[in-house]
Amino acid sequence: MKIGILTAGGDCPGINAAIRGVGKTAITKYGMKLIGISDGFTGMINKEYHDLTEQDLSGILTLGGTILGTSREKPFKMSKGSKEPRKPDLIKEHYVQMGLDCLVCIGGNGTQKTASLLAQEGLNVVGIPKTIDNDVWGTDLTFGFDSAVNIAAEAIDRLHSTANSHKRIMIIELMGHNAGWLALYSGIAGGGDVILIPELPYKEDKIARYLLRRAEENKPYSIVVVAEGVVNPDKEKSVARYLSGKITEMTGLETRETVLGYIQRGGTPSPMDRVLATRYGSAAADMIAARDFSKMVALRNNKIVPVPLSEVAGKLKLVEPDNRMVIQAMNMGTSFGI
Ligand code: F6P
Repeated sequence: MKIGILTAGGDCPGINAAIRGVGKTAITKYGMKLIGISDGFTGMINKEYHDLTEQDLSGILTLGGTILGTSREKPFKMSKGSKEPRKPDLIKEHYVQMGLDCLVCIGGNGTQKTASLLAQEGLNVVGIPKTIDNDVWGTDLTFGFDSAVNIAAEAIDRLHSTANSHKRIMIIELMGHNAGWLALYSGIAGGGDVILIPELPYKEDKIARYLLRRAEENKPYSIVVVAEGVVNPDKEKSVARYLSGKITEMTGLETRETVLGYIQRGGTPSPMDRVLATRYGSAAADMIAARDFSKMVALRNNKIVPVPLSEVAGKLKLVEPDNRMVIQAMNMGTSFGI
């Protein structure tokens, strides 16, 4: 069999470990051939690809980013009335021309949706979930998340000492447009006093009162962990900047902000992400050998299981308001600004 493999959407640590997991299993166990598609679905549209040998897969386990390149190309989104050939048709045509038996799509929600639509168009597709946001529906965990939590928690740890020296409120903004998993886990790991996530709309006066009470209790500083996707009435500024101004205005407490940004997505994957990505990749190759297509590999109760792409497509896994970790953090005095 000949497998095409692509990586789409925002990158994250662990993608190369997943490519290696697919490739080494496919080549070593099944004697399959592997083709790397460049820059996500763009490579399928433009027919940009190259052979991947076993040697190409050596030394990439710990490498950040993706050796294949990525893009946010969404082939099913086309401008109305466009005279261009339909992109999914080009993908189908090139899939046949490349002699592929299956296309492995490594990506987040958008990628799994595209993978599902391509499966509906008749291609053999297998999905592998990745994202630092951990918001892919159908799986307990995506790789990239653990690495990002490690990076964010270390950043929060470092803010504690400088916050203490200057007796300041420190706001740290983390990634997560829709889902607050990264802010929730990193906030708990880093002992954040306030954690704000998109799923739980905050009230400014609740945050202000909470921070003032801490100051009155002689707690010299506070750490506020905020996901980038929480409500921000000021479109000109980051939400960390907006909240910093608001908190100073409402409490008189000295406040500083940090936006961690793309550091959260860069660099080598954590050992846990390397293991998860390897398990996903290897299981995907087994599924291809068994011709078990139109599925995404998922982690459920620490077992890798296939989940139909049609169930995953178009859904987001969000933090439920009654999430046990949220309740436990609240029980320990953490504020969610609600
Ligand atoms: O990969 C998901 C994510 O990291 C989001 O948390 C973030 O908002 C987004 O990607 C930004 O990525 P880009 O600027 O590459 O589109």
